[in-house]
Amino acid sequence: MRLRLVLSATLISAGLLAGATGCGEREATPLPFQHKKAAAEAKKAPALADLDMADAKKTFGVLPAKFEAETNPVTDAKVALGRMLYFDARLSKNQDISCNSCHALDKFGMDGTKVSKGHKGQLGGRNAPTVYNAGALATQFWDGRAATLEDQAKGPILNPIEMAMKDEQSVVDLLASMEGYEKAFEAAFPDADKKERITYDNMAKAIGAFERGLVTPSRFDKYLGGDKTALTDQERAGLSKFVQNGCTTCHNGAGVGGSSFQKLGLVKPYPNQKDPGRYEVTKKDEDRMVFRVPSLRNVAETGPWFHDGAYDRLEAAIQGMAYHQLGKELPDQDIKDIAAFLKSLTGEIPKDYIKMPTLPEKGEKTPGPDPS
Ligand code: HEC
Ligand code: HEC
Repeated sequence: MRLRLVLSATLISAGLLAGATGCGEREATPLPFQHKKAAAEAKKAPALADLDMADAKKTFGVLPAKFEAETNPVTDAKVALGRMLYFDARLSKNQDISCNSCHALDKFGMDGTKVSKGHKGQLGGRNAPTVYNAGALATQFWDGRAATLEDQAKGPILNPIEMAMKDEQSVVDLLASMEGYEKAFEAAFPDADKKERITYDNMAKAIGAFERGLVTPSRFDKYLGGDKTALTDQERAGLSKFVQNGCTTCHNGAGVGGSSFQKLGLVKPYPNQKDPGRYEVTKKDEDRMVFRVPSLRNVAETGPWFHDGAYDRLEAAIQGMAYHQLGKELPDQDIKDIAAFLKSLTGEIPKDYIKMPTLPEKGEKTPGPDPS
């Protein structure tokens, strides 16, 4: 027997609206356990019924092969250039840190630390999120301060505690000093004037184009595609509990999160209030402790969790979410099932796509490392 979880698009959008006032108080849809037989059947795994497939498709979404952007069409040449830039530590002051240092592509786009080390070992203030599937995010950074991947890529290179380059011009000069980069920019931006080719903007476009192909489809996409057996009974039970408890109010879409700003500590205040989140960007009181909801794709591999890296066990992070966002203390079995579901979001790393390329050789005018 198959119970149908009532989860319509209307309920989801109602949930989203309620998010501002306290979506945590929304009652879970009662299940019609009418008679003993149904109750006994429901006790067998899966504990909760399968979601209706059409509803699941509406709530979530299959990952595309790559994320497209009208403002920055993805071409092979741009991707090839972006890949070089992503791996090139010469884009940092001491030439020892690349994007890949903090977002290691063979480690699910993470460095596995609470906060990352940048120039001269300086520690950052927030946990590094993964770059995989970042194209699914409506805005970039925990506080959403960059609108696109291209905007985002301009940040870390000039950030004094990350890659610490002096200014845009010094990055442009560095790139222009290498023949290999000159050729790669020419191939990637064939229509641009020679003088306009190697620019900070075009560098960011190439990195963005490369990142738009960092996509990790998982068994969950197969499931959404109609193959119910792609998830185990426990994972399906976890999916139902994830939906039924209201996690999808915030974690929905192809990224299973990433499309909205929400208050951390919506129902029960979050203990660490040091980082006010989006307030830093808008200076509006209502944005205190508001963060862009993270995508949960690959979440089992992207610990430690939360913007401050406060949780180092996935189960504890789930418990923390249920408590702070929904005011619930979930039974152990529910936590385990939800964790099993979240693990099914671990995707396949695109091994060929992320192979470290041969980097352009230094030219005569290429500056050396600066440890100061
Ligand atoms: C020193 C470590 C470090 C380096 C180097 C670094 N990042 Fe990050 N990255 C971070 C941290 C920490 C954040 C989160 C910061 C925040 O939200 O304020 C972040 C955020 C991001 C995000 C946003 C993801 C999201 O979920 O919002 C993307 C995309 C990204 N970085 C890509 C890059 C690229 C591309 C480069 C190279 C140009 C790079 N990073 C270099 C540490 C680093
Ligand atoms: C009201 C919105 C909301 C609800 C409901 C919600 N979350 Fe979250 N979730 C967030 C926000 C915002 C963050 C980022 C927290 C931070 O910045 O520290 C987050 C972070 C997470 C993380 C850590 C991700 C990472 O990369 O660090 C996990 C895991 C998670 N949520 C799972 C869940 C589960 C499971 C549920 C249901 C029990 C749930 N969430 C319900 C908004 C929500």
